[in-house]
Amino acid sequence: MSSVSDVLSLSPVIPVVVVETVDQAVPVARALAAGGVPVVELTLRTPVALDAIRAIAEEVPEVTIGAGTVTSPEAAKRAHDAGAQFLVSPGCTPTLLAAMEDTGLPFLPGTATVSEAIAVLESGHREMKFFPAEPSGGTAYLGSLPTVIPDAVFCPTGGVSAASAPAYLALANVACVGGSWLTPKDALAAEDWARVTELAAAAARLR
Ligand code: 3PG
Repeated sequence: MSSVSDVLSLSPVIPVVVVETVDQAVPVARALAAGGVPVVELTLRTPVALDAIRAIAEEVPEVTIGAGTVTSPEAAKRAHDAGAQFLVSPGCTPTLLAAMEDTGLPFLPGTATVSEAIAVLESGHREMKFFPAEPSGGTAYLGSLPTVIPDAVFCPTGGVSAASAPAYLALANVACVGGSWLTPKDALAAEDWARVTELAAAAARLR
């Protein structure tokens, strides 16, 4: 993936995935791809996350694998070394932004305010995550931003659902949304990959 806009154009929904065991990684990525969603944001929230990223990078080439919940320079480097093809952070500081830049990977820095979005634009990046989207003001908030920061492009994530995604996707400054609803915890625990594929197929049809 050469740029973050390439990543954002892969699917209307970037699945935010939490795996509890490394064995879940490859099947869940394949199930998403089978439903037409060839991208995964695998969150660095469980001890197996880096191994899961490595497994998907090695065994599921049809999926663009990213690391989510990147909150430190060390995490950015470890995710890169594990084979992540893009990085996503829930928030952003100058230190974290520099560390993500240093990896050479496309990345989505997290923002929730106009000032944070302006800081990201000042650093030379247009694309950013809007997190947590629903608690931060949802579509009403995001929809009011193009008049003041028309260059900012968002991937809203956090509380977005199959029901609310279309309203976000209709906004001029939204490239895609992120959400965990494609990979429910109980479906992963039960290895119900057909359900994941079904949820992915519905998400892929959103736009
Ligand atoms: C994230 O890491 O982006 C969020 O936890 C995903 O939010 P959701 O679980 O509300 O979709």
